[in-house]
Amino acid sequence: MNDIKINETPVAEEQAQPILTHERSLSRKIAHGSEARDILDQQMAILGIQLVTQLNVLIKTSRIYERTNSALDKPVDTMLTLIKTMAQDQPLRLRLQNDFLFLGDSHLKVNAQQMAVATSIIDVLNVWKIGGITFSLAVESKDLREFAALFVSLDPAKNTIEDLQKEIISRNVAGIGLEDQRELQIRPGTEATASSQSGDTNSAGSDGVKNVDSKGQRKIAAKNGYVKVGESVGSLTKAAREGGTVSFKQAKRAIQNIIDIMQDDEATVLGLTTLRCHDEYTHNHSVNVSLLSIALANRVGYPKVELADLGLAALFHDMGKSTIPLEVLNKPGEFTDDDWMLMRNHPTEGVLILSRMRGFTNLPGRMAAASFEHHMNQDFSGYPKLAVPWTLSLTGRILTIADCYDAMTSSRVYRREPMSPSKVLNMMFSKSGKAFDPVLLKLFVNCVGIIPIGSLVMLETNELAVVLKPAADKANAERPLVRVIADPQGDSVEHGREVDLTEKDETGEFRHHIIRLVDNTEYKFDTSRYFT
Ligand SMILES: [Fe+2]
Ligand SMILES: [Fe+2]
Repeated sequence: MNDIKINETPVAEEQAQPILTHERSLSRKIAHGSEARDILDQQMAILGIQLVTQLNVLIKTSRIYERTNSALDKPVDTMLTLIKTMAQDQPLRLRLQNDFLFLGDSHLKVNAQQMAVATSIIDVLNVWKIGGITFSLAVESKDLREFAALFVSLDPAKNTIEDLQKEIISRNVAGIGLEDQRELQIRPGTEATASSQSGDTNSAGSDGVKNVDSKGQRKIAAKNGYVKVGESVGSLTKAAREGGTVSFKQAKRAIQNIIDIMQDDEATVLGLTTLRCHDEYTHNHSVNVSLLSIALANRVGYPKVELADLGLAALFHDMGKSTIPLEVLNKPGEFTDDDWMLMRNHPTEGVLILSRMRGFTNLPGRMAAASFEHHMNQDFSGYPKLAVPWTLSLTGRILTIADCYDAMTSSRVYRREPMSPSKVLNMMFSKSGKAFDPVLLKLFVNCVGIIPIGSLVMLETNELAVVLKPAADKANAERPLVRVIADPQGDSVEHGREVDLTEKDETGEFRHHIIRLVDNTEYKFDTSRYFT
């Protein structure tokens, strides 16, 4: 898999001045829960992103220049303005929790452009095991400069956060405090369990702690969850066609359940996307796109409740296809120009159908975007073509990647043979920055692996194996966890052993390696059965 190139995409350094849109003492006067408070919180979040951006610039610039150098003036001045604005009521807390950035208690949502900056700060905080930085009104220009200089002069491999804190005190840095990192449970045991929601009999224990820790149980729960999502999309599509009232509750619950399972075991859930039921392409495709989008959005840092909204939007991205006659949709031969015209209309038709659905008072913007934008492409080379300038939403960009990946790896009606997952990734990388958002595409590879889940590989033992899970360690991305499915003679093996390709022998050499990727079409193996 050496031919996949993942290029580092330089992200423009943002040096925007802060936008100061509210009176400084205003926050004390606005009631919690009011609309004005929401607006204020949104503004604080925007300022929070700017703070992170400037902190990143400050640290990077401090690696090159002395603390008094004028190159530091701009980030320092901007940070001071931000702190003076935001720390009016109480010290400003920038926190890191489970690799997500928070401003106080609010999650700082970043878009794809801001992701590189956020990741860079997250990495710095992680290296030092810093759980939070507090800025108070006492902070001055010299403090910020000294603080940044400390960060880059001390070696985190030889120093601890305590050393850093001691230095902060001994150098009289005022107004800046550090908090330790604490390991926090993402999901405390009081939440509903995946198994009980999915109808599995292995329900939660009386203490409410999830009881899906064994692999087998989790697989069953995941499979049931997948089926439930599929069922809900089926009944909703039917209801939409017949003009009935549509309730998204069931679908949303099913998606929520899948998200729960995914947070424990992403690979098992993504393994389900290799399920290919040919005549039900559209339903399976919608569920797969939903799962792949959720996994990608999770890497982007979407909070859990937004993951469910995105998953739901993804589930209905192809709703417009219900306007295409089945003879066209299932046509075995080539599409005519007229057929293509119908196909190209499905994103717009989708928006119309969704907005006509009874049960919606308001079409959620994310759902409209999912349908309307998923074939547009990053460079607008796709469809629909627009006469007016358009900015693609993050949802649309995520969907484009998940949709293309699933469509190409599936055996679909108008593409008789599915492409192997790695070939599809290669093809997608050749369009990085054109059809696809390059940063998102890189994150997507982290989800499915550089040799994606469901790929067939030949080991050096001449055994054939299927990829179950990407390697946890990115440095060993080409060494996934696999399961042997055929012996060296090519005879299929039941319950073949799992091989962790990162495993080393006594001499420190890798025990096994992949000698070649095998095209899934070369062997008529249905790899999905290894995930169910
Ligand atoms: Fe589509
Ligand atoms: Fe699609």
